[in-house]
Order: sequence, then structure tokens, then C-alpha cells
Amino acid sequence: MDNSRWTSGQIPRLDGKIILITGASSGLGLEASTILSAKGAKVIMAVRNLEKGKTAAAAITSKIKNADIELMQLDLSDFSSIHKFSEEFHGKYANLNILINNAGVMYPRTREITKQGFETHFGTNHLGHFLLTGLVLDVLKNTPQSRVVTQSSALHKYGGDIHFDDLNMEKTYSKAKAYAQSKLANLLFAYELDRRFKTQKQDSISTASHPGYTATALQRSQGLLVAAANKFIAQRIEIGTLPVLRAATEENLAGSEYFGPTKWLETRGYPQIVNSSDKSYDAGLAKELWEVSEKLTGFSYNF
Ligand SMILES: NC(=O)c1ccc[n+]([C@@H]2O[C@H](COP(=O)([O-])OP(=O)(O)OC[C@H]3O[C@@H](n4cnc5c(N)ncnc54)[C@H](OP(=O)(O)O)[C@@H]3O)[C@@H](O)[C@H]2O)c1
Repeated sequence: MDNSRWTSGQIPRLDGKIILITGASSGLGLEASTILSAKGAKVIMAVRNLEKGKTAAAAITSKIKNADIELMQLDLSDFSSIHKFSEEFHGKYANLNILINNAGVMYPRTREITKQGFETHFGTNHLGHFLLTGLVLDVLKNTPQSRVVTQSSALHKYGGDIHFDDLNMEKTYSKAKAYAQSKLANLLFAYELDRRFKTQKQDSISTASHPGYTATALQRSQGLLVAAANKFIAQRIEIGTLPVLRAATEENLAGSEYFGPTKWLETRGYPQIVNSSDKSYDAGLAKELWEVSEKLTGFSYNF
């Protein structure tokens, strides 16, 4: 099969599969939920705002008659919400085929912090998903060939570093550095999770993706110029969602694959395996970040 122009038509039927996706209320998460529902999966849309989630779910069911959707409330910027979500989830599900860590924040107007006081990019994009994945790990382990997909960004390559001496950027805040740190952390986590699955001889895998530059609400706080760029330069949501869909559904992956577009500095095009930054493959750095993340979330992974 020619995979150089991979489209959602190549996704196999997903009947019987349970998929949990964060940030499902808009943008890439909503589009992915729509396609995965159309393929027959049960999609659990984790949303921070249930009212917005209802509108999103209604948009899906208006297009896909038999869509099997469940809405669940989850605020990744609040550890207590993540624990509450996990309790509810465990009450309902003993299996989880695919977890898609997609939600993200980018460039709030000023430095913001999460409920527990972490810089909002690091706390939400990384720590929130780190905790969520750890809390549902037992259910993933209980499911043959389960998969975790983490959404990163090409911007992790531009100044992306883990500032262990100032993870919350209290000394010097830069929104670009804070976003890049969180998106590098997403990749370090995705690859380290995959290494740990393999060390523990589990048949689960962890993959990653990035959408290039896709027109969504993500850049909402960045003014008119970016709004214009979103309109005229960014690629359509249908194309930008393909990398995460491919990372989530392509069969026979070994784990640790990173999918993204390949054209125009990886800002657009169909998804293929792409390279992330050298730092993202640093297993020592990933281990250090993992240990710090366990400490900061107060949660130890149980493999
Ligand atoms: N669009 C791009 O060009 C681009 C490029 C690189 C990477 N990405 C990544 O792609 C992912 C999806 O972004 P998008 O482009 O689809 O943007 P989006 O339309 O703004 O979607 C982001 C989603 O994350 C959710 N979210 C934000 N904070 C949350 C929190 N505290 N708890 C739970 N959910 C939260 C949002 O919920 P609300 O609806 O309630 O706001 C929304 O559903 C992000 O990880 C982003 O970093 C996007």
C-alpha cells in the first residue's frame, strides 16, 4: 500500500475499540473524534467544559448516525480533576485500546499557572497527561496491544529544552520557551513510556505525532496577524489531523514512531514518520524528567 499520501481512508474498521481522547471539544481533537467514530470506535471525549463538549458531540452525531460517544469532564490543569476523572473512568471501563493525549494550551497572554501552581504549558500539556496516563495504565495493560499517542509540535525544535532549574519559568518567562519545553516534554514522555513498555515486556506501545501548522483555535490569543496566517497559510483541519490518526491507528507499528507532515519545514502535507530533535531521543534526559514528573504529580507509575 502506498503510504506517502496516507489519508483517513486507510484507517481500518475500529468496531469494538475504546478510544479516550483529550481536548476533544475543538480543533484536532474534535476532528479526530469524528473520524474515529465514523470508523466504529467507541470514543470517550474528555473535555474540560461539558457544555462546549455537548456542542462538539452534537456536531459529530449530526454527521455520523451511529456514533458511539461518551463525554467525560477532565481539566488537565488540575490534578484533582484528573484523579476524579480516573475514578469515574475505572467505574465504567476495564479496557482501553487507545489513549490520545491531544489537549494543549499555547501562549496565554501572560504567564499563567495551573491549580497546583505549575506554569500552565508545562503543568497542562505535560504533567496533566503524565498523570492521566499513569492513572489509566492498569486499564491499558489490561487491553491487548493497547496504544498511547501523544500530540507534540514541530515547535519543540525551536528552543525546546527542559529547564530543570526553573521548570515553572519563574526566573525568566518566555511563552515560546515554555510551549517548546512542554512539547519536548511530550516527546520525551512518549519515547520513555515506550521504552518502559518494552522493558516490562508489555505489548502496549507509545507513539507521537504533530499536526504541522493547522488552522484551529490554538492560536486564539495571538492577534490579527496570526488570525490571518491561520486563514491563508495554515493547512486544513482534515489534513492536520492525519498525523495523530495515523499514530493512533496504523497497524504493525513497533512503538516510538513520530508522525508529522514533511513539506515546508514540516508545517504541511500528508503524515509520514519524521525525526524529532536530538534532545527528544536522550534517554537520560527522559528518565530525569520522568522522575521529576512523578515527584511533582505525587504519583508513581506502577508497571
Ligand atoms: N494547530 C496547530 O497548528 C498545532 C501545531 C502544533 C501542535 N498542536 C497541538 O495540537 C493539540 C490540539 O490543539 P488544536 O490545534 O486542536 O487547538 P484547540 O482547538 O485550541 O484545541 C485544544 C484543546 O485542548 C483543550 N484544553 C486546553 N486546556 C485544557 C485543560 N486544562 N484541560 C483539558 N483540556 C484542555 C481545549 O479545550 P477547550 O475547548 O475547553 O478550550 C481544546 O479542546 C495541542 O496539543 C497543540 O499543542 C497544534
